[in-house]
Amino acid sequence: MITYNENERVFKLDTPNTTYMIGIVDEENFVGHIYYGRKLEDTDASYLMRTGEPPFVPSRNNRERCSFYDCFPFEYPASGLGDYREGCIGIRTAGGHAGAVLSYVSHEIMAGKPGLEGLPATFGTEEECTTLKLLCEDRYVGMQVELLYTVFHDTDVITRSVRVTNTGTGHFYLTKVYSACIDMDNRDYDMVTLHGSWARERHIQRKTLGYGIQSVSSFRGESSHQDHPFLALVDKNTTQENGEIYAMNFVYSGNFRAQAEVTQFDYVRMTMGIHPENFCWKLESGESFQAPEVVMVYTDKGFDAMTAAFHRLYKKHLIRSEYRDRKRPILINNWEATYFDFNTEKLLSIAREASKLGIEMLVMDDGWFGRRNADDCALGDWKVNEEKINGGLKYLVDEVNKLGMKFGIWFEPEMISPDSDLYREHPDWAIAIPGRPGTESRQQFVLDLSRQEVVDCIYEKVASVLRSANIEYVKWDMNRQLTDIGSYGLPADRQGELYHRYVLAVYQMQDRLTKEFPHLLLENCSGGGARFDPGMLYFSPQIWCSDDADAIERLEIQEGTALLYPLSTMGAHVSDCPNHTVGRVTPFETRGIVALAGTFGYELDVTKIPQEDRDMIPGQVAMYHKYNDLVREGDYYRIASYSQNHKFDCWQVVSGDRKQSLVTFVQVLNRANFKSRRILLKGLDAGKRYNVSFVNDDNIEDKVYSGEMLMKAGLLVPNPWGDFRARLIFLDEA
Ligand code: DGJ
Repeated sequence: MITYNENERVFKLDTPNTTYMIGIVDEENFVGHIYYGRKLEDTDASYLMRTGEPPFVPSRNNRERCSFYDCFPFEYPASGLGDYREGCIGIRTAGGHAGAVLSYVSHEIMAGKPGLEGLPATFGTEEECTTLKLLCEDRYVGMQVELLYTVFHDTDVITRSVRVTNTGTGHFYLTKVYSACIDMDNRDYDMVTLHGSWARERHIQRKTLGYGIQSVSSFRGESSHQDHPFLALVDKNTTQENGEIYAMNFVYSGNFRAQAEVTQFDYVRMTMGIHPENFCWKLESGESFQAPEVVMVYTDKGFDAMTAAFHRLYKKHLIRSEYRDRKRPILINNWEATYFDFNTEKLLSIAREASKLGIEMLVMDDGWFGRRNADDCALGDWKVNEEKINGGLKYLVDEVNKLGMKFGIWFEPEMISPDSDLYREHPDWAIAIPGRPGTESRQQFVLDLSRQEVVDCIYEKVASVLRSANIEYVKWDMNRQLTDIGSYGLPADRQGELYHRYVLAVYQMQDRLTKEFPHLLLENCSGGGARFDPGMLYFSPQIWCSDDADAIERLEIQEGTALLYPLSTMGAHVSDCPNHTVGRVTPFETRGIVALAGTFGYELDVTKIPQEDRDMIPGQVAMYHKYNDLVREGDYYRIASYSQNHKFDCWQVVSGDRKQSLVTFVQVLNRANFKSRRILLKGLDAGKRYNVSFVNDDNIEDKVYSGEMLMKAGLLVPNPWGDFRARLIFLDEA
């Protein structure tokens, strides 16, 4: 619910358990942030903006206007006039000047949620959410800024975005436009962020927030392996189950900055938006710029509650695919099985064996097109290589279909190899600084998708392959980050638009693809999990989590990913051993159990693995079919973290009716002379009794315990024999 109290000039935005308040002050209609936290009934809260303390407001004390600007908790701060904290919006007028401050003009409160032009965003019906449009302006610049807030009625989430319009007569440049800001008192917070590298994505980091600016960011052209568009400020005492959290997550797949600035007065300004590095957007008179959406979550109930809010929102209000609520076909991908060395016969031999074991889809990865026999050529030449795919693509797909399996294919549509027919024909289609040799990465360049003719040409190439056979899945990959930011297609004063135009074009292509092929299962990927973000989830219900599919490495990667994203979105496979990334040897059983927490599939040559591993596949397939509804739809809880305790990992999912639950326990290194571990379960119904069975160990007898006992006193998990051992425990109402 959203209300406006005209007497107090206070907006109150309520979710089931939280309240957010915005106030308008002074004759100049400054817009201030008042409160975000536990739900309040009262709106008599504008005193929190401290306008009753020196320097007061400019109408009362214009002598100290600069001090006012530097301490007022602006709802959406600009800069250049006295607020020395980092602002959210930067402009440069035609005359070359920066400096702006926003004042309230009008507002509208509406049922539902408008879409954001060209951008992915959360959605909801008129019954599910309410939106506030707050119109502000700087009349000296000739700029209107629309601040959009949506509250969801069933989830403790508020989404925000910003639209800037040039209402003047000439042009100006937007040099920065963030999407959200919370100016609040610092209460000795910790800062929680996600970090990594290729094969090591989204590891959780928690550290003390100090004075000054602390940020995480990417200007790699994608959300990145390295930092993640997520920031949480949490109370020092916050745990999984308790404590305050202010979290932001960006519905965007390009450059971002998430920042906390602790100031001289012990205030903290928390912001998130497009990274200003090399961003400069020209707005002609009448033109608008739509900034992407930020999802904000507040809770005083710890990380489990934060995670639940993000999961619920993304499951219900972000993912559009018809696969969102459906079991995905169990796939086998040939990448780690063959790399580039395959042909029709090899793929069919894998498919034949896989189909016998219950695997439901064959995915042909990189190497099927042009002269692509290594990663140094042919990106852009999206024509089937009939020397490898002898008999043609349709023949291969039909043969796979005859086995009762679906067929999927890999593309990397955003790229161009210097050694490709496409590059030889259109060297100016690569992103490049004219006159400077391009910086290669994996021996490839990035296509200049700011040019519509490039987008149309590549889209057509991809779509015509998909139209040529019964292809039911696409893995959309992106294997390098952007450099040499320059476009042969943009004028000099629009070169600063390239990064964002690139992201908009990726969205446009995926939008077209999913509309033309509405039944396609799309999986995004970026050199593993470099573009695992809410922006991509809008188009694809699942994203490849990491190129590191080692079961032990995956514990940390999947823990960090699941902090925000539902298990149903995490691309997870059983891969080959010794693992191709770390050389570790883990039991086939453990690999299966860890992959079960994601989309589940295989990434190995099923014709070559040891017979005893192969024999386990039908059992794993059966487990997937038995438990996937629970894993996909259930509420997720983190029980223990290997990254923190360095011994074991444990997570749990519980069905909505709390009748069933699945607990995954992974012991990393065994300990000598050690008893069973006592695990406190979560989310069960204290009044119910549960039959507890250790799914993969017949020697442990099934027992019945009450939900109360299991949650308050705990379950004893016998110590598995050996390292890297997993236990799967199923609870069913007795
Ligand atoms: C990176 C992906 O993450 C891998 O799974 C594989 O598809 C390769 N690219 C192919 O080049």
